[in-house]
Amino acid sequence: MSASTHPPSQASRRHALIYGSIGLVVALLILGAGTFVWLTQGGTASLVGGPFTLQNGNGQQVTDRDFRGKYMLVYFGYTFCPDVCPTTLNEVADAMDKLGARADRLQPIFISVDPKRDTPEVVKQYAAAFGPRLIGLTGTPEQVAAVAKEYRVYYAERRTGPGPNDYSMDHSSVLYLMGPDGKFVAPIRPDQNGTEMAADIGRLMS
Ligand code: NI
Repeated sequence: MSASTHPPSQASRRHALIYGSIGLVVALLILGAGTFVWLTQGGTASLVGGPFTLQNGNGQQVTDRDFRGKYMLVYFGYTFCPDVCPTTLNEVADAMDKLGARADRLQPIFISVDPKRDTPEVVKQYAAAFGPRLIGLTGTPEQVAAVAKEYRVYYAERRTGPGPNDYSMDHSSVLYLMGPDGKFVAPIRPDQNGTEMAADIGRLMS
């Protein structure tokens, strides 16, 4: 994942003038290290996460309530991601192994920010590549936009060519540990190895 701003086209210049500065401020708030610092500050519990309705790999409707009673480890990405997503999810799988019996109380969840390409079937196969525990979720563009907004996740298409599938997704990369009550507990740094992740998560689980 990466993030950048693009020069606005002539046609969108007026909108860019209006929204550009707002967007930049929002991007700075939610991207990268800034996100993590902000998320680790007190008082953010009620500002991150919330109810969602998505689809699992079988196309069945899934909501946040389906995971009550378990911790959730939530990560947003997309299956075509060449680097950060698969790396992170590999470490999550390793962290689950390292957590041992405690992993039974933790549900890792991958939520696609690329619902156009990430159909339930695609997400199901992708999640399965990282072991049997990871659940992959996708949804309509509106459902994905809603959950991403709740989790303060930034994502945007970046065109790489003229074809309909010639794009990558810029997206913020944060792991969210949510409590058994569905409330935000803490961010987990995605750029650590599974052992480090497991240590962080283990400290936070009661
Ligand atoms: Ni990614």
